[in-house]
Amino acid sequence: MLARIDNLRCDRIISTGDVIGYAAHPNEVLDLIRDLSTVTIRGNHDLALLDPVEAETFNEFAREALFWTRSVLTQENLNFLRSLRDQEQIDDIILAHGSLLDPDEYIYSPFQAARSREIAPCRITVVGHTHYPEVYRFEPSTGLCRDILVSEGEVKLEEGYRYLINAGSVGQPRDGDWRAGFAVYDTEGSGSVELHRLDYDVHRTMDRIMEVGLPSMLSERLLEGR
Ligand SMILES: [Fe+2]
Repeated sequence: MLARIDNLRCDRIISTGDVIGYAAHPNEVLDLIRDLSTVTIRGNHDLALLDPVEAETFNEFAREALFWTRSVLTQENLNFLRSLRDQEQIDDIILAHGSLLDPDEYIYSPFQAARSREIAPCRITVVGHTHYPEVYRFEPSTGLCRDILVSEGEVKLEEGYRYLINAGSVGQPRDGDWRAGFAVYDTEGSGSVELHRLDYDVHRTMDRIMEVGLPSMLSERLLEGR
């Protein structure tokens, strides 16, 4: 994915959090994120590593992965997670993990997306958390969400409209497609967003999850894209 981003000559990488928590390379991922000076925010898995109350809300598989991740993380990476904020604004984009109302809210519908749009301080809100790539578009006068454009391909952003975008998930897509997902925002003109999917050696990643002793379900789900 980083090679693809390099080819596309992106100026900056931004992340909506939960960069660790389910897979076998948490330190490598965090080292990379820090090296790339990525703008990132704190997801619920990042928070659960630091907050036992949040960890209690996790299912047994996620909790087991969390304990393992906690046991291998370097102090430097733990400190980095501690330094993250719940939301960040960059130009006309605001980042939130779940929604602007709650980092733990899953946005699956236009109605839920609209609640965040109402309080968004800028034109584009980018969220994560559901692991579903999606683009919600809101009319300028009414604020109504008329359509949901999903999954893959380019979406031209129109003047006056507001958007809520989920870029999908690199490490654990859940829309039935195992390929890594990310989005590229082009600021040219009134802007466009392209949702990308990318093949990678998923079996190698699955094997590695088993090798470090994480629950097999976390390996198997990768191939199912769930
Ligand atoms: Fe999350």
